[in-house]
Amino acid sequence: MGFIEKISGPLVIAKDMLGASMYDLVKVGRLKLIGEIIQLKGERAIIQVYEDTSGLRPGESVTSTGRALSVVLAPGLLGAIYDGIQRPLDVIREQRGNFIARGVTAHRINTNKKWKFVPLVKTGAKVSEGDIIGYVQETDLLKHYILVPSGVSGSISSIKSGNFTVDKTVATVKSGEKSIKLSMMQERVVRRASPYRMKGGSSEPLVTGQRVIDTFFPVAKGGTAAIPGPFGSGKTVVQHQLAKWSDADIIIFTATGERGNEVSELLVEFPQLKDPKSGKSLMERTIIIANTSNMPVAAREASIYTGITIAEYFRDMGYSVALMADSTSRWAEAMREISARLEEMPGEEGYPAYLPKRLAEFYERSGRVETLSKKHGAITVIGAVSPPGGDISEPVSQSTLRVTKTFWALDASLANARHFPAINWLDSYSLYLKQLTQWYNKNLGEHFVEQRGEAMRVLQRESELKDIVQLVGIEALPEQEKITLEIGKIIREDFLRQSAFDQIDQYTSMHKQGKMLEVILHFAKRATAAQRAGFATSKMTAMVCRSEISRMKEWPEKETDAKAKALIESIDKEFAALEREAAHEKKEVVE
Ligand SMILES: Nc1ncnc2c1ncn2[C@@H]1O[C@H](COP(=O)(O)OP(=O)(O)OP(=O)(O)O)[C@@H](O)[C@H]1O
Ligand SMILES: [Mg+2]
Repeated sequence: MGFIEKISGPLVIAKDMLGASMYDLVKVGRLKLIGEIIQLKGERAIIQVYEDTSGLRPGESVTSTGRALSVVLAPGLLGAIYDGIQRPLDVIREQRGNFIARGVTAHRINTNKKWKFVPLVKTGAKVSEGDIIGYVQETDLLKHYILVPSGVSGSISSIKSGNFTVDKTVATVKSGEKSIKLSMMQERVVRRASPYRMKGGSSEPLVTGQRVIDTFFPVAKGGTAAIPGPFGSGKTVVQHQLAKWSDADIIIFTATGERGNEVSELLVEFPQLKDPKSGKSLMERTIIIANTSNMPVAAREASIYTGITIAEYFRDMGYSVALMADSTSRWAEAMREISARLEEMPGEEGYPAYLPKRLAEFYERSGRVETLSKKHGAITVIGAVSPPGGDISEPVSQSTLRVTKTFWALDASLANARHFPAINWLDSYSLYLKQLTQWYNKNLGEHFVEQRGEAMRVLQRESELKDIVQLVGIEALPEQEKITLEIGKIIREDFLRQSAFDQIDQYTSMHKQGKMLEVILHFAKRATAAQRAGFATSKMTAMVCRSEISRMKEWPEKETDAKAKALIESIDKEFAALEREAAHEKKEVVE
């Protein structure tokens, strides 16, 4: 309908575009590259093109599809690996070798595969948008519910059961005089949040198996967390850990790496992972949206929206979804590049003035909701940020921290010291602690929250003491403070520090975290009492039980209770022995 006037990197200016609307998807040039109208000025349209524009020439045609950028949703999504505009990477690879060829319109969902549709409503049932009409057991881990799509309401006039491809009619809805056919497939536009009945606070943590997170800085299911950190500080490893171990039903991982190998590592590693509970492939509950740095910026910009829209779809089935975005800085940079080409007035550091708004709108799509069909679903959003030079005073970090409620502060000096996860315990915070207290009380006992607070106080005191030691040396410290230093060290090294690569250490259940903390604080209590009674700290650091504490990480989950009980007993025994020995020595001196 129109034609190319000018090409500027990922942007194309097209003329004669009367009749097109904002955010329409268009096909650009003879290669039919996919683009989206992001500005309309009279009959001129500015289009961001999701594919490499080199080779396009002025004069080539541009046609609008009349539809907005959307995702296709149906059984077959789980385990998929897509690019930013939901083109399956594996299918495209098979078609064209290892690179994504331009203009390839691969089917976003397999329409040849048959799924067993089980109806859950009967003829005559009244249904409207978001209601569940049936399901497909998509993987062993998950039932894929079939929802009434947007804009449809009426009564079911027919519904089938049996094996169908996703494009076949499984039900019809009578709406006034109209009869609407429903298949197992629907589309949703990506730039608009999907509706729900109510959004409310969540009282359950997303359990991640990562001790520093679950015990100290938890994120609620339906909450938001930010992980800003300098180059190489462990953002990606943390995100991977969360994707592997979080107790969400569905994981959506949007990888927008700067380094190509970061994404390919993910693509190689993830399909091999097993769900610790069921032993099934973790990909059965995972969807990956991957962009490498050699993909055009516009596709990166879209991947965040593609990811969150798929997340909303599963939320609407009543699932808990966790979405990891690694890294949102790459998304912001894509925005900046496009904005610069549009010659918009730049805001801070060249980012567009609407950056904070876009980030807020994205995180705002998280939350625990009551769905249109009155189920409870949640989307937890965890965004990595890569501030240049690690300085979080820059705009992307700042705008992110304003809207996220958990902050995991990655620290270059911890990473350099090989303390992983390099989450700084003094700078990080979680604003969810209060609303999760009840959950902790119920699941771990009333003492847990108290013990967490106690451990936190030790860490804070330890940090103050370290400053003092820097000035006056350790010898000047009173014995009582030396104990605090020792306990701080135990908490840091034997609790906070956790290897992502050790078979056992990579995941610690909430129960085991509670037990580990209990043992450490029991040792702390005995040590403090012993110090008050006049014993030197050096006696306690040399104890066998002290070195046993360092080995708690290696305890298999199943043996936790028995081992914790035994260790508490040996702590008691060793301290009792210390006191006996001292009493004996004293007696000898007196005699
Ligand atoms: N929990 C962990 N356990 C053990 N090693 C870790 C852990 N986290 C990070 N590392 C080490 O640090 C390296 C860098 O981590 P990672 O790639 O996650 O950093 P990043 O912050 O994503 O970096 P970039 O800014 O380049 O994206 C890893 O390759 C690994 O060796
Ligand atoms: Mg990374």
